[in-house]
Amino acid sequence: MTSAPLAAVTGAEGFIGSHLTETLVASGHRVRAMAQYNSFSSYGWLETLAPDVLEHVEIVLGDVRDPGSVRGLMEGADCVYHLAALIAIPYSYQAPHSYVDTNVTGTLNVLEAARSLGTPRLVHTSTSETYGTAQTVPITEDHPINTQSPYAASKAGGDRLADSYHASFGTPVVTLRPFNTFGPRQSMRAVIPTVIGQVAAGERTITLGDLRPTRDFTYVKDTARAFLAVGTGPAEQVVGRTFNAGTGGEISVGDLVALIGKVMDTALDVREDTERLRPAASEVMRLVADASRLTAATGWRPGHTLEEGLAHTVEFFRDPANLARYKTGIYNI
Ligand SMILES: NC(=O)c1ccc[n+]([C@@H]2O[C@H](COP(=O)([O-])OP(=O)(O)OC[C@H]3O[C@@H](n4cnc5c(N)ncnc54)[C@H](O)[C@@H]3O)[C@@H](O)[C@H]2O)c1
Repeated sequence: MTSAPLAAVTGAEGFIGSHLTETLVASGHRVRAMAQYNSFSSYGWLETLAPDVLEHVEIVLGDVRDPGSVRGLMEGADCVYHLAALIAIPYSYQAPHSYVDTNVTGTLNVLEAARSLGTPRLVHTSTSETYGTAQTVPITEDHPINTQSPYAASKAGGDRLADSYHASFGTPVVTLRPFNTFGPRQSMRAVIPTVIGQVAAGERTITLGDLRPTRDFTYVKDTARAFLAVGTGPAEQVVGRTFNAGTGGEISVGDLVALIGKVMDTALDVREDTERLRPAASEVMRLVADASRLTAATGWRPGHTLEEGLAHTVEFFRDPANLARYKTGIYNI
């Protein structure tokens, strides 16, 4: 009898990482999941997974900034999914050094461990933010990289290191570049939980930043399947390549708020809060994905419409036990 393949996941306790952990277990993997070391022994969202999922998950506390911690996580893994990152754009204006430490040096530690351990497959996580405001739409992987925030710059730094390890050492790395992802468990730093969370907490006047930018929103279960697709897809199709994951749809933040109001059956007023505005040249005005490369290589396609994803997200935030985990009354950066 062959044992189940072992997947190691960094950032497993976070939003996308916890959904990916569920997706990996559902597809027959054992998962070694890194949650960032902290003094509360908190395993983040992993603590909320069902017992029959957790049976297949080994949780280890660690830190991607520490090479030994990363190596320990990755030893013996058939595939490594590297999601750990600092992700908030506003906080990257305040604490850019920590973004370089985590997103650049942390990625370097993962690549070095993959190289020395001979890890058979490494999935590195990029972001659509590395493209900056779309110069052509939809955005293909050949679109120029234009990093408009320290966050985007640090993620692009990690991407370039990943490319260089493939070119220099043949490290079998594939880069997934998700566009905006949303769903249950997302933090209130992102626009959809910000709106839904405020409404679920009883607010009718929603406080937001710029309403004009457009985004391509992908439901988190579809993003998790995109990770699985590049982690398990044929090596000759995926290794050494970068893949967008997005729906090809586009909606402005203003129209999104109206749609959420419709899904939640609530009339909403929006108040623009200048504290939430990004500096003009740092605001990414338009992102819309061309994911045809991913579809051609792996067959991946999104399985949820925006409305379906929003309905699941609303259901999550309407559960008082879930809502209690959030601070809806403050600006979460
Ligand atoms: N959410 C999106 O819309 C989106 C879009 C594109 C790309 N991404 C990328 O997807 C990945 C996951 O993002 P997310 O939205 O789930 O955010 P998240 O903040 O929920 O997850 C990131 C996780 O990384 C962990 N982490 C941070 N620093 C660490 C360290 N030093 N050592 C170990 N772990 C550390 C955090 O604790 C957190 O759980 C990130 O790489 C992000 O850049 C997210």
